[in-house]
Amino acid sequence: MEDLKSSVKSCYIHIPFCNAICAYCDFCKVYYSTNLVSDYLTALDCEISKYYKGEVLDTIYIGGGTPSILSANELNKLFNIINKLNISDNYEFTLECNLEDISEELLILLKNNRVNRISIGVESFNKRILKILSRRYDIDIIDRINLCKKYFTNINIDLMYAIPSETIKELETDIDNFLSLDIPHISTYSLIIEKNTVMYNNKLKNIDEDIDYEMYKLIIDKLKGKYKHYEISNFSELGYESRHNLTYWNNEYYYGFGVGASGYIDDNRYDNTRSITKYIAGNYRLEGKKLSYNETIENAFILGFRKLDGINILEFESRYDFNPLKLDIVKKLVCENKLVVDEYNIKISNDYIYLSNDIMCEFLGINYQIEKKNNK
Ligand SMILES: C[S@@+](CC[C@H](N)C(=O)[O-])C[C@H]1O[C@@H](n2cnc3c(N)ncnc32)[C@H](O)[C@@H]1O
Ligand code: SF4
Repeated sequence: MEDLKSSVKSCYIHIPFCNAICAYCDFCKVYYSTNLVSDYLTALDCEISKYYKGEVLDTIYIGGGTPSILSANELNKLFNIINKLNISDNYEFTLECNLEDISEELLILLKNNRVNRISIGVESFNKRILKILSRRYDIDIIDRINLCKKYFTNINIDLMYAIPSETIKELETDIDNFLSLDIPHISTYSLIIEKNTVMYNNKLKNIDEDIDYEMYKLIIDKLKGKYKHYEISNFSELGYESRHNLTYWNNEYYYGFGVGASGYIDDNRYDNTRSITKYIAGNYRLEGKKLSYNETIENAFILGFRKLDGINILEFESRYDFNPLKLDIVKKLVCENKLVVDEYNIKISNDYIYLSNDIMCEFLGINYQIEKKNNK
């Protein structure tokens, strides 16, 4: 069997610029300024030249911040940098767009530069909710998305829920709006009120856990039939799963370039600096960390169980040299019906998917070296 981890096939590039800072946002971002963008792109070019070893890449993901905020000239500069990467014939190239930036000119520029998937941070179709999130609410969302559909078929929409004071009815209307658009992919995120955000400082409180659970169930029920629930938060039509994000969930290697980006190469997980000043000065990376065998296996379980299809048993055995079915914790969770085993995979039972975090935690702190020896 091919060693799935042996080569890097994916690359994430972070573009940190935004026009306004949203009340819930903990991402690495700075206010847009043309001078800063110019210096940033120069630094990005240098970072990529320094670390990229010429592998053929299957997926590229440009995220933010707001990549779509860049002017045509700036985007051309970015695409010139990306042109130095070897990209396979059958590639997926995603760029995150904010609704306010979407125009015919932007979409044509993206298409001409090999972008073949766009991910749009819609978050909600409801003006009241958008105001709470401090997102723009004066845009005709449906019009902008229909414009995207003229140029792209592979489109994702990010939708947030469990916003303080949001009702089940409001969420239902949001999902109905999404369904009416006939878009092949949706990522749904329950709001996390992160420290150092406006929401946190304003002492907004998370929605009640039971309502959060009701909302998650509602999303699953309403999307059932048309969309495959393939990852805890992600739903897609067949063939439109995010190949890039599957790299993460399959615990495979990927480059992370740009300020605040993270990567995983040769068993080494690294984070880049979150300081744009340091980044522009050429101090790209914080200290990396070679993962121990134990950490690698923990990640394989925790990331793998995010997929509704779970972990492929044979692949796991071939990569990590032990049969996961022989692990005591797996046997216990199967007995409790929390994990399900079929001919090929182990996965979290659909009835327990809402509790996946608790189940994943069971895989922390196990001595997998010893388990591996006992496993032979
Ligand atoms: C990398 S962010 C996208 C950033 C992009 N600039 C935007 O605003 O759409 C990806 C998605 O994560 C989700 N997200 C961001 N912060 C979140 C939070 N605090 N809680 C839950 N979801 C969040 C949003 O749905 C967002 O679209
Ligand atoms: S949510 Fe997106 S647009 Fe808003 S501040 Fe964060 S990165 Fe920028």
